[in-house]
Amino acid sequence: MASSTFLLPLFVSLIFHNFQHSSSFSLSVEKFKEDVIVSSPKGKFTAGFYPVGDNAYCFAIWYTQPPHTLVWMANRDQPVNGKRSTLSLLTTGNLVLTDAAQFMVWSTNTATSSKQVQLHFYDTGNLVLLDNSDNVALLWQSFDFPTDTLLPNQPLRKSTNLISSRSGTNYSSGYYKLFFDFENVLRLMYQGPQVSSVYWPYDWLRSNNIDYGIGNGRYTFNDSRVVVLDDFGYLVSSDNFTSKTSDYGMIIQRRLTLDHDGNVRVYSIKDGQDKWSVSGIFRRQPCFIHGICGPSSICSYEPASGRKCSCLPGYRWLDSEDWSQGCVPKFQLWCRNNNTEQDSRFLQLPEVDFYGYDYGFFLNHTYQQCVNLCLRLCECKGFQHSSSGQGGVNGQCYLKTQLLNGHRTPGYSRSFILRLPSSMHDYDENTINIGLVCGGNRGVQVLERPYVEEKENGSVKLMMWFASALGGIEVVCIFMVWCFLFRKNNADKQIYVLAAETGFRKFSYSELKQATKNFSEEIGRGGGGTVYKGVLSDNRVAAIKRLHEVANQGESEFLAETSIIGRLNHMNLIGMLGYCAEGKHRLLVYDYMENGSLAQNLDSSSNVLDWSKRYNIALGTARGLAYLHEECLEWILHCDIKPQNVLLDSDYQPKVADFGLSKLLNRNSNLNNSNFSRIRGTRGYMAPEWVFNLPITSKVDVYSYGIVVLEMITGRSPTTGVRVTELEAESHHDERLVTWVREKKMKASEVGSTWVDRIVDPALGSNYDMNQMEILATVALECVDEDKDVRPSMSQVAERLQNHENDS
Ligand SMILES: *[C@@H]1O[C@H](CO)[C@@H](O)[C@H](O)[C@H]1NC(C)=O
Ligand SMILES: *[C@@H]1O[C@H](CO)[C@@H](O)[C@H](O)[C@H]1NC(C)=O
Ligand SMILES: *[C@@H]1O[C@H](CO)[C@@H](O)[C@H](O)[C@H]1NC(C)=O
Ligand SMILES: *[C@@H]1O[C@H](CO)[C@@H](O)[C@H](O)[C@H]1NC(C)=O
Ligand SMILES: *[C@@H]1O[C@H](CO)[C@@H](O)[C@H](O)[C@H]1NC(C)=O
Repeated sequence: MASSTFLLPLFVSLIFHNFQHSSSFSLSVEKFKEDVIVSSPKGKFTAGFYPVGDNAYCFAIWYTQPPHTLVWMANRDQPVNGKRSTLSLLTTGNLVLTDAAQFMVWSTNTATSSKQVQLHFYDTGNLVLLDNSDNVALLWQSFDFPTDTLLPNQPLRKSTNLISSRSGTNYSSGYYKLFFDFENVLRLMYQGPQVSSVYWPYDWLRSNNIDYGIGNGRYTFNDSRVVVLDDFGYLVSSDNFTSKTSDYGMIIQRRLTLDHDGNVRVYSIKDGQDKWSVSGIFRRQPCFIHGICGPSSICSYEPASGRKCSCLPGYRWLDSEDWSQGCVPKFQLWCRNNNTEQDSRFLQLPEVDFYGYDYGFFLNHTYQQCVNLCLRLCECKGFQHSSSGQGGVNGQCYLKTQLLNGHRTPGYSRSFILRLPSSMHDYDENTINIGLVCGGNRGVQVLERPYVEEKENGSVKLMMWFASALGGIEVVCIFMVWCFLFRKNNADKQIYVLAAETGFRKFSYSELKQATKNFSEEIGRGGGGTVYKGVLSDNRVAAIKRLHEVANQGESEFLAETSIIGRLNHMNLIGMLGYCAEGKHRLLVYDYMENGSLAQNLDSSSNVLDWSKRYNIALGTARGLAYLHEECLEWILHCDIKPQNVLLDSDYQPKVADFGLSKLLNRNSNLNNSNFSRIRGTRGYMAPEWVFNLPITSKVDVYSYGIVVLEMITGRSPTTGVRVTELEAESHHDERLVTWVREKKMKASEVGSTWVDRIVDPALGSNYDMNQMEILATVALECVDEDKDVRPSMSQVAERLQNHENDS
């Protein structure tokens, strides 16, 4: 391979000459922008000073092409000043980095008496210090000191390891490490400030010795300890771990990086592309990576939203912006008390596990025995219990005094039993599901990209993947998915960037104009625009909304918002097919709903909404809103729930529409209410918070939902449903419907009769399920409570309604 022809003639001469006359070469930080950047022969890589903060630079190597991905750093933990810092090759043969002309922060620690030291920069990304005298000798090379990335053909050996960076924007050493352990096995480890543990491969797989040394297992007896990714995308480790990237066979640029989230990914990029795509992942289930969610918190993973952390009930965040710090109890420790059973209560958290750090493991203990053990131990925070035998005879009890590596895996058969003080009643049992503080913009979220192989067997494998994920047999999964991801090498396989994003696309204005026959068939109005029916070029029927209000919004802002809406994917949310932003035109393209809106159906005299449909609509709407509120990816409030915005498909399944157009909220900004300078909503459905200028939370949607349900039950409209403007808002917190229902309920209880038959929509007659009706009406009244804290969350509503789904 050709060695470097550094761009700058000055350096060409310096580097390819002998250093006989003590003329040391140096690269200074001030000039790095102008001309001192050094590029490899074909220009693929650049070496120079990379800005990592305010007046802070690291000497680094990066891809010349945008996005200038860093592949190596000399001084990641000790950046140098932006003034008078230099990288110099001394006549002694030492390459040194000097901070502000004063301190040496880094050096290659090389020395030679030879006068023929040369620094070469190859197109492989390797920076090499050679002694070029009679016997050419390698003094130092950057490939031997990787940071978080391995380039093709760059081996990771015994003496080296990869350390992740601290976050997506902070390149200093983070908490994750890829290395060979003393048993010659390639491992991933979390090395946090307090605790450390290995999370790949899991220990228990090793000790079981299942197919150890063959197939997917690791071989412990080859002490060469080396792993390398070749030019074709094949990764081989001396412990017999191998894998192929999904684009195996193609010669394109790749890199293997231990990302700051603790996962190892292989990325590929083709010439001319400006984005790396993931072509291999080590640890497929992100919640099994340790250290993401700190002590006493739980990691959960949903394909649509990625990874999120939540506090245990009764616990709160230590730092709500940094999940890794975990949660602390809101209550005092028990040790002051005499631990009798009356002092503690035990709360079961299904599907939750805390990996490792058992205080003790007790065989043959029943649940009650396990409880007693925990009670006797001051520091016991809870336990895991499993019973394999009949009647829990062979129960296994794992006491925990530390709650680390918590995760929740849907379908996981065990529960975690949390100990709480019995005096504590004000915790939210649903903390696990709700009330998440999103991690803000700290760190870049890396999207996992599922791969789909050839169509016919891709789905089978996906199912296998899900099945085993559900079984909680995580380690088997990793290998299986690994194999599934890496086996085939056909280049044109489909790679879905995000499942929900498939089909989401940009439309041209003329295309939509044609689809709607020049906007001729209007099917709705409101929410800042007019909706037209249209037929797309692929013959799909679509609802096309033409927005008036956002016409002066910039295209990028518009795009940012729509792509978030487009990513939401739930059966009770309207699906978005795409958007159009051209000049002044802003249009959104949605799935077409055959049965129109709930409002139209309630108004219609044909009385198509029988009881089971109404109940189902209430439940589905609650589910859709719960999804909107609680997915951590983006915290979205609807702010305009009304029957006009609940659409019905051909099966009368409800789909919430018109969400996401109100400003996207995250928890931090909703506290000070700053995103809501304008009142939003519709007369009759608006929560009192709007009028009284109280903090806006997801409970405003709960209120509106309650009104919609009351309307469905009673058939009475709270108002005429006129959209409220800022000026007239004051007078429109309208309680007439709520008051009417409450009065009926009160009167009924005075005479001791049932109340629901006094409020029910006359159109239903007696064709409804009394039990369901009572649940629904009760829940709806709770939803419209003036005090937002009394209102249940949307997921609590959904759960309660779901429990009675099959009553009728
Ligand atoms: C990066 O993180 C380290 C460790 O937390 C911190 O000391 C340093 O100031 C951070 N650097 C930047 C640029 O934020
Ligand atoms: C390592 O893997 C290769 C190829 O799968 C196999 O032939 C070999 O026997 C394995 N070595 C050990 C020690 O398991
Ligand atoms: C050990 O691993 C290296 C690298 O994979 C391989 O080249 C070598 O043949 C292995 N040695 C034995 C004894 O298996
Ligand atoms: C603690 O409880 C035990 C029995 O439940 C009792 O014998 C003991 O006196 C109590 N100790 C204190 C300090 O209350
Ligand atoms: C478990 O308990 C049962 C019933 O008490 C007993 O018969 C059995 O021997 C115990 N097993 C062990 C391993 O202690």
